[in-house]
Amino acid sequence: MRNLFVTGGAGFIGSAFIRLALEEFSDCRIVNFDALTYAGNLDNLSGIDESRHRFWRGDITDPDAVLAALEAETDAIINFAAESHVDRSIASAHEFLRTNVLGTQVLLDAARERGVHRFVHISTDEVTGSLPEDEEAFFDESSPFAPNSPYAASKAAAEHLVRAAHHTFGLNTVITRCGNNYGPRQFPEKFLPLMLANAMRDEAIPVYGDGRNVRDWIYVDDHCRAILQVMERGRTGETYNIGARNERRNIDVAQSVLKILGKPPSLIKFVKDRLGHDRRYAIDPTKIETELGWRPRETWESGIEKTIRWYAENAEWVESARSGAYREYYARQYGTI
Ligand code: NAD
Ligand code: DAU
Repeated sequence: MRNLFVTGGAGFIGSAFIRLALEEFSDCRIVNFDALTYAGNLDNLSGIDESRHRFWRGDITDPDAVLAALEAETDAIINFAAESHVDRSIASAHEFLRTNVLGTQVLLDAARERGVHRFVHISTDEVTGSLPEDEEAFFDESSPFAPNSPYAASKAAAEHLVRAAHHTFGLNTVITRCGNNYGPRQFPEKFLPLMLANAMRDEAIPVYGDGRNVRDWIYVDDHCRAILQVMERGRTGETYNIGARNERRNIDVAQSVLKILGKPPSLIKFVKDRLGHDRRYAIDPTKIETELGWRPRETWESGIEKTIRWYAENAEWVESARSGAYREYYARQYGTI
């Protein structure tokens, strides 16, 4: 698996994956196919070995563009491209269906047409809905689908299409489902980078509802290392959950980040809850641990420290992400808090 076609490689996780793959495999060559939506940023790829990376601006819903960029000797497609923010899907689902559902089908068709050896589809724990609070319940790979947001529904639909391509046409597919990633270069609409960006500027941190919703956090490079292992050694047609056994309530995350930054808890502002807000996500990663021997390398403490350092040292990146259309989005989403 050395000639890779990565979609969404200018986004948060896709760019981390490209960095890691180029570092881990000296003979790895990557075509990075990305539409550069508001979430895509070529600065996310600064410093990588350009001789082994080719950027191709294109939309995964455009079959001609995908086929033009997809070389016949591609070993694997790794599909990160997506509309990824739950709140935006609640405001309008259209782009989510277009990219996440239709785009995935276009890529599956192209993979068959070009004879691509393997299709790695990056999915999310949100396809299996919400778990009860304070219970020893976890998502595993056989948990039933129960998507609750338009985003989650679009990702669930994409998974069904991947499954169908495997079952009907024998396409060599693997699916990964991960929880909440954190780390450098995450667009500051998501909770953790939004919180860091705001707190570092002494601005309020909006916490939805009662703040007791639980998310299962993983450092982005640990997620990407798991994807590399699934790509190389995962069994065809299978799904692998990826998680670091790191459940935290939103309010606890906010308080601990403020403490590390030396900022007052009074920056926390409880705001109107997200519609249909999933209460708890918690992943059982036993399958990937036992089958592939994967383990996360970062603890929450080491990962959050690296993340905070990156945002502190990259104020320009944050300012540029928070400019322009982001300001309109922020005003629409939060009003004045
Ligand atoms: P992101 O929003 O940061 O990046 C998405 C990238 O996809 C951007 O570079 C964007 O330009 C590109 N893109 C969007 N629409 C496109 C289109 N039509 N054609 C080509 N490119 C397009 O997302 P992320 O947080 O890096 O997530 C990447 C993937 O991982 C997504 O599939 C997401 O569902 C999944 N995922 C994310 C998390 C998380 O915590 N962020 C957790 C589990 C799974
Ligand atoms: O679980 C995996 C998913 O994690 C991915 O599939 C998604 O792409 C990714 O965006 C993420 O979804 P969440 O909705 O969990 O992430 P988000 O950062 O938007 O929110 C995390 C939690 O924080 C969630 O309970 C909502 C809450 N929140 C979020 C925002 C943006 C707030 O309390 N305030 C906020 O301003």
